[in-house]
Amino acid sequence: MQGEVAAATKFDVDEIRKHFPVLSQKVYGKPLIYFDNAATSQKPLSVIQAITDYYSTYNSNVHRGVHFLSQKASDAYDQVRVKVKDFINAPAEEEVIFTSGTTDSINLVAYTWGRKFINEGDEIVISSMEHHSNLVPWQILCEEKKAVLKVVPMNDTGELQPDDFQKTLSAKTRFVAISHTSNSLGTINAVEEMVSMVRKHSEQIHYDIPVLIDAAQAMIHEKVDVQQLDCDFLCFSSHKMLGPTGMGVLYGKSSRLNQMPPWRGGGDMIKSVSFEKTTFNDIPYRFEAGTPHIAGVIGMGAAIDYLNSLDRKAALQHELQLTRHAQHLLANIAGVKLIGTAKHKTSVVSFIIEGVNAMDAGMYLDTQGIAVRTGHHCTEPLMNRLNIPGTIRASFAFYNTLHEVNVFGEAVKKAISFLKR
Ligand code: ALA
Repeated sequence: MQGEVAAATKFDVDEIRKHFPVLSQKVYGKPLIYFDNAATSQKPLSVIQAITDYYSTYNSNVHRGVHFLSQKASDAYDQVRVKVKDFINAPAEEEVIFTSGTTDSINLVAYTWGRKFINEGDEIVISSMEHHSNLVPWQILCEEKKAVLKVVPMNDTGELQPDDFQKTLSAKTRFVAISHTSNSLGTINAVEEMVSMVRKHSEQIHYDIPVLIDAAQAMIHEKVDVQQLDCDFLCFSSHKMLGPTGMGVLYGKSSRLNQMPPWRGGGDMIKSVSFEKTTFNDIPYRFEAGTPHIAGVIGMGAAIDYLNSLDRKAALQHELQLTRHAQHLLANIAGVKLIGTAKHKTSVVSFIIEGVNAMDAGMYLDTQGIAVRTGHHCTEPLMNRLNIPGTIRASFAFYNTLHEVNVFGEAVKKAISFLKR
């Protein structure tokens, strides 16, 4: 902990905050405290500037024009694919598919791999803490194919146990889709260990089970290396890692992507088209029909540059310090119960207050300038498992401060006395 504090002290959060214009405003006359980073992160000036530069100086379509602007836009766009490849340590840039976000990436896999390879009686494994986006696409697929959705249970602190994961695998397992980090609880799952368990299980059942990792909540906090994880698919969103909304990535091993049929038809995803027959483009373009979100791609590239320019270890230590401090403050307030106390967790602090409705608490905190999320956080089955309707969730990023956490702690106390009056 001493080392952590030292690292956090070295991390110049006041300097960092100057890069995020939204943070310096007041709401309802109070300094904004933005603790809703798991919903979407704020954007640094460099990202805002990259998008403005594109629209104001070289706005043009990509891969379609011989003119100067189109060449410039195409170069900028194509370079981001290389940036993403390096950022996640993918072996090849064609394994990086641009999508509209994590949800879109997961649906792409469910609709292509799933429809081609999942059959009646097959089993798809997810966990009890999945976001709806890593549940509903698989449920739709299972209903269509008469396949079975198997759910890895969770313990009361919000952890998936290796034994339970192993027991959920069977001779019929044909796909595994697991979140790297829970958006509601902050739990960081042992995904590397799970992938290796799936690899061993695959050998035993003579079926090479693909593993998809939903890393939406991980990318802003830690380095995710697809070769180290050895996952088949990795899905994430730009807007949760400092980039624009409507933009995301599907990484897939080329051996998997090359087996998958296209899903959306249109421009750029074809090799040749006639009324009789269309032949399809190679990866990644086969999965990128239509004019892409060019500004989104360029903005995401700037977000990656920003993250690469940070001391990420120090940023992570700073976030952990905020998390522990918030947990400590909340645990000492009568009536507050922390939800999700996994040993290995990210900077998400979920809690409930006895006798106080979560949404009322969120609305009270809002009057104090504090932005949190309340409710089920798109994880209704997880809330059912915990027997609660929802939580109040404070989620921190590296640009938040200990002072903000202290103000938040006091505001929670005030909320309780105000709402329990
Ligand atoms: N998935 C986002 C969240 O957890 C929206 O809030």
